[in-house]
Parts: sequence; C-alpha cells; structure tokens
Amino acid sequence: MARYARITGWGKYLPQKVLTNQELERLVDTSDAWIISRTGIKERRIAANDETASTMAVHAAREALKAAGLEPHCLDLVITATCTPELIFPACASLVQNSLGARKAAAFDLNAACSGFIYALATACQFITAGSYKNILVVGSEVYSRILNWKNRNTCVLFGDGAGAVVVQASDSPGSLSFVLGNDGSRAGSIYTPGPCGLNQGPYYLTMNGREVFRFAVNVICLATKQAVKAAGLELSDIDLLIPHQANTRILKSAAKAIGLPLEKVFINVDRYGNTSAASIPIALCEAIEEGRLKERDRLVLVGFGGGLSWAAMVLQWGQGKR
Ligand code: COA
Repeated sequence: MARYARITGWGKYLPQKVLTNQELERLVDTSDAWIISRTGIKERRIAANDETASTMAVHAAREALKAAGLEPHCLDLVITATCTPELIFPACASLVQNSLGARKAAAFDLNAACSGFIYALATACQFITAGSYKNILVVGSEVYSRILNWKNRNTCVLFGDGAGAVVVQASDSPGSLSFVLGNDGSRAGSIYTPGPCGLNQGPYYLTMNGREVFRFAVNVICLATKQAVKAAGLELSDIDLLIPHQANTRILKSAAKAIGLPLEKVFINVDRYGNTSAASIPIALCEAIEEGRLKERDRLVLVGFGGGLSWAAMVLQWGQGKR
C-alpha cells in the first residue's frame, strides 16, 4: 500500500476583470497609497456576473487534472473549500463533480474560511494515507466580491475572487509530512459573514475587526509554522519555501520576521489578487511552481489563518510526478 499522499497536479483560475486601487478610489474614500502601504495590494480580480465558486473551481480543477495526467472519472473524492458557494445545498463540490464528469467521486464542501484549503488538503491526505482513496481533487474557490459591502472601505479593498486546485494521489514517496489544524471559536466575532439561515435579516456583508485579525494572524502564522515543522521532524533551516495565506504583505513580513525566516523564502502575490480566502494558497502554489520556486525534494510549508478564528499549517516534501 502506498504510504504517502502527494500533490501531482495543480491549476488556478482568476476571473478576467481586474479591479485596481485607482478604481476603488472612485467607490469609497480611500487612496492607492493607503491601500498599498497598509496591505501591499495593488489590484484584485472580480468574477463576471455569470461566474460562481463552482464555475471557477471547474476551470482550476481541469488544469490540475491535466497536470496530473488524470481523467476525471478516476477521482475518488472532490473536496471544495469555500465559504461563498452559490447554493446552500447541494455542495459546490457536487456541482464541480458533475461539470468535470467525476462520476465515481464522493463530493463535499469544507468551510474553514481562509484556512479552508489546508483543512481540505489535510483531510484529503488522511483519506489517502488511511488507504481509503487514491485520487482526490482539492479545490479552493471564492467569490468574496458578492459578500462585500462596496461602500465600506474597511473591507472592500482587501479581497478578491479566484480559484486554485490540486490533485492529491497515493504515492510511495513523500508527500505530506505533517499538519497542524486549530480553531478558537471564542473569537468567531472577529471576522464573520452572516447568512440567510441566521437570526438577522440581510444584507449579508463581511464584517471584521482589522486590528484584532492582524495581531492574531502574525502570532498564529509563527506558531502554526513552527509546530508543523517540528511535527515533521525538521528544523526551520530545512524549509525552502513558505507559502502563506495571502491577506496582507505587512502581516506576512511581520510573521516572517517573528519566525526568523528570510523574506526570500516567503512567497507573496497578494499585490495582484488581494485576499482570495480559501483560494489564495493553491493560487500561490501554482504561481510558485510556474516561477520555478520549487525543486525536487524541497521542503515547503503552507500556512493559513482566518475566520473561526481558524489556523492551519502543513509541511510537504515537493516532488513532481506520482513516484
Ligand atoms: N482607505 C483609507 N483609510 C482607511 C481604509 C481605506 N481603505 N480602511 C480603513 N481606513 C482608516 C480607518 O477608518 C482608520 O481611520 P480612523 O483612525 O480615523 O478610525 C485608519 O484607516 C487606520 O485604521 P487601522 O485599523 O489602524 O489601520 P491598520 O494599519 O490596522 O490597517 C487593515 C487596517 C484592515 C489593513 C489591517 O488592520 C489588516 O490588514 N488587518 C487584517 C485584515 C485581514 O487580513 N483580514 C482577513 C484575514 S483572513
């Protein structure tokens, strides 16, 4: 029995429409200079009217399946990490399964906000190392543009839409080395979006205490990264690349400093996409691969944080191909 779970394919999808900081200046009382200095974000993508979490997920998934050389009907499971699905049910993953023609696959959604992709990836790896499944598609896909109050400058400048996907397969070589998942529900009020099944009438806008989330993020990136590296039996100096959830350049710079990791080892692309929540890590992973930032046997840390307040980190040994 194959002992390891390994990423063998990856893909991303970004909607065509680019929304720049200059365009936001016309919507709310903000400035390009403020947004760049406080967040590092220059532009973000916005889904077209006919795009949803599932349609974007399908684009990213097709690319990931192609890279893995895997036919959709070979998939055992589809997990979609999203908190902006088009339907309350069935799951976004169910729509993705159908569009792909993954007729043998089980399908479910997982909501751990911006930590969702790593939660989903860890779940997929558990199914594989337990020997239950061999081929799993994990997608993060979000359309935060539909839960933002475009009159609120505190939140609307921060987020963007997009999707990223990976194929995870059983393999004889590593693979996933460790993971850490956590949550502090007592701080659920720090960042949340109400919905139609709660006690409040709409509109259902994302609400956030920015400073609180900022402090939490810096601490937890540092803590979760160190815990996951230790759990993998490694030292921080063994880590070749950190791919964090892309929320804010300042958060990432402060966290890198607190961890003691040089900034060259931290992948950052938040300037072009803003915070795409559960999609941000798989999109960043794709770009890191495209830019040649990952070599055979490199050790990689993925680390996420967000609503919950939740956090998640995972250590992987990188290797192209299934074996
Ligand atoms: N343009 C101009 N001014 C803005 C603004 C904007 N888009 N958004 C907020 N401001 C104002 C605030 O109203 C505040 O004004 P006040 O002092 O008159 O009340 C001022 O800027 C400073 O606010 P402050 O909270 O000190 O700014 P900050 O340096 O903490 O940056 C965030 C604000 C939101 C960028 C920052 O706190 C942050 O990134 N937090 C984490 C958010 C996040 O990543 N969430 C998702 C996690 S998954």
